[in-house]
Amino acid sequence: MSDAKLQDVLSSLSEVYRQLNSIPPSPVPEAGCVKLNTNENPFALPAPVMQSALAALERQYLYPEYDNISLREAAAASYDLSMDQVIAGNGSSELLSLIYRAFLGPGDSAAMLSPGFAYNRKLAQLQGARLLEIKWGETCLLPIHKLLFGPAKEAKFILLANPNNPTGTFVPIADIESLVAQSDRLIVLDEAYVDFAPDSALRLIDRYSNLLILRTFSKSYAAAGIRVGLGFGHPEVIGRLRNIQNLFNMNVIGQAVGVSILAHRDAYDENHRHIKYERERVKFALSQLGFSVTPSHTNFLLARVPAGRDGPWWQTSLKRKKILVTVLPDDGLEDCIRVSIGTKPQMDAFLAAVEDILGAQTSRSSAV
Ligand SMILES: Cc1ncc(COP(=O)(O)O)c(C=O)c1O
Repeated sequence: MSDAKLQDVLSSLSEVYRQLNSIPPSPVPEAGCVKLNTNENPFALPAPVMQSALAALERQYLYPEYDNISLREAAAASYDLSMDQVIAGNGSSELLSLIYRAFLGPGDSAAMLSPGFAYNRKLAQLQGARLLEIKWGETCLLPIHKLLFGPAKEAKFILLANPNNPTGTFVPIADIESLVAQSDRLIVLDEAYVDFAPDSALRLIDRYSNLLILRTFSKSYAAAGIRVGLGFGHPEVIGRLRNIQNLFNMNVIGQAVGVSILAHRDAYDENHRHIKYERERVKFALSQLGFSVTPSHTNFLLARVPAGRDGPWWQTSLKRKKILVTVLPDDGLEDCIRVSIGTKPQMDAFLAAVEDILGAQTSRSSAV
C-alpha cells in the first residue's frame, strides 16, 4: 500500500482512536525465562478442573452457552448471590473495559486510586475520557475525604483495587464501606488478589447499589490463560453491562473451567498456602539483601532496590539472567521492581540471580 493510501486509511480512524499510536512490533517470546512479571500462578489446575477443560474441548464445534448462564448460576450459588447480580467475562479485563464503555463518553472522567493497575489508563483513553489519578494516602490508606470532595466528585466512577496492584497493600473493608456509603458514584472495587488477603467486600453487595466488585481466576486459581473473570453488583448495573457484552464473549473451555473451579475451590488451599509462605520467605531474603519490601497481601512483592541503581537497571540485569520482573511507570516507583511469587525453584532462581548481581556490583566497586 502506498504511503498516501495509508494516510487516507489512517485518517478514517475515529477521532478518539486517531490520537493513539499503533502498537510497537511484538516482543520476541521469552522462552526459557522464569516469568515473574505478570502475577500468574504457575501451578497446574486441580485434576477435576483439568478434566472439565478437556471435556469442554469435545464441544468445540458448538457455540458456548449464551449469556454464560451455568457459570453465572454457579458463581451465584458459591457467593450467595442471585444470578442477576453476576456477570462473567473473558478475564476481568473484559469486565473493566465494559465498565469504561458503559459509563464514559468523550470528555468524561473516571477516578482511580494511584498507583493502580496501569491498563485503566488505556481504557479511559479509548473512550476519549480522562483518568484522574488520586494518590493513595500515606502508607496506602484510603483518602476518603479526597474521593468525596476533591476532583473525583465529578468522576463517573471511582476505581480501586483491594489488595492493590502494584503496591500489594490492603485497606480494611470498613474503610471501603465508609466510601461506598457516603459516595453517590459507582465504586468499582477490583478484588483480583482477594484470595491472598485477609478479607473481602463481598458482604456489602446486597447493601449498596453503587458497589461493583470484580474478581479474576487468573491469579489465585491458576487460570490466566483460560480467561475467566466475574463481576458482582446490583442487577440493574450488571444487566446494563451484560447488554453491551460481545456475543459469546467466553469460550466453552473458560465457561467449563470457571464452573469447575467454583466447585473445587478447596483444592487450591495448598496453592495459596505455598504462595503466602514463599512471599514471606522472599520478602525476608530481599530485605536481608538491602531491598525495602512493602508488606503484601497478594501473589507479588513490590521491592525498592538498594541505592545506586533504579528499577529498569535491575529489570535489565535480571533479564540477562533469564528472570523477568516488572517496572512501574508511576511517579515515585522508579526505584522499584514488582516480582510475582512462583514456585520454590523459581523463587530460588530469582534470589540467586539477585545475589549474583549484587556480588558482581560489590566486586566491581572493590576493584576500583
Ligand atoms: C488489579 C488487576 N485487575 C485486573 C487484572 C486483569 O486480570 P484478568 O487476567 O482477569 O484480565 C489484573 C491483572 O494483572 C490486575 O492486576
